[in-house]
Amino acid sequence: MTVVTVNGIEQKIQVDPTTPLLWVLREQLQLTGTKFGCGIAQCGACTVQVNGVAMRSCVTPVSAVAGQNVTTIEGLAPGPDELHPLQQSWIDEQVPQCGYCQSGQLMSAAALLAQNSSPSDDDIDGAMSGNICRCGMYSRIRKAIKSAAGVQQFEPSAVDFLEGETNG
Ligand code: FES
Ligand code: FES
Repeated sequence: MTVVTVNGIEQKIQVDPTTPLLWVLREQLQLTGTKFGCGIAQCGACTVQVNGVAMRSCVTPVSAVAGQNVTTIEGLAPGPDELHPLQQSWIDEQVPQCGYCQSGQLMSAAALLAQNSSPSDDDIDGAMSGNICRCGMYSRIRKAIKSAAGVQQFEPSAVDFLEGETNG
């Protein structure tokens, strides 16, 4: 059994420990916002955060995140009635087209802004280079990140919020 905290909730997972985190999220926990694209760490569609760091869940065995905090797109917003600033700027800038890459894009962007609240274009391009968008929305993604960077405070995270709910 592998114990991992996902979006602030401790999960006890009975799977082969080599199972990719992506499939645990999608099939065991029904968190289908995280997408399968390539399966070989080349597209970024499966990006989640592990302890706040963007990670490709398709090539991460669930055993590698035992005891860690995983955040998925379902846990990005700070609360049920509140969007993460990036989600709002994604809407404002009309970033999504087909949408398939977008959860991965948002998780990478959120990890960037948590580390760098005022990223340059080069910072953004570097952090987002592993997230492929077949619809070619790169300029809107960059604009939305810069827009969100002017907005806020990226803490408390969804994990903090949900832990507060659980503990309270
Ligand atoms: S599905 Fe994981 S990087 Fe493409
Ligand atoms: S919005 Fe379609 S792949 Fe990015």
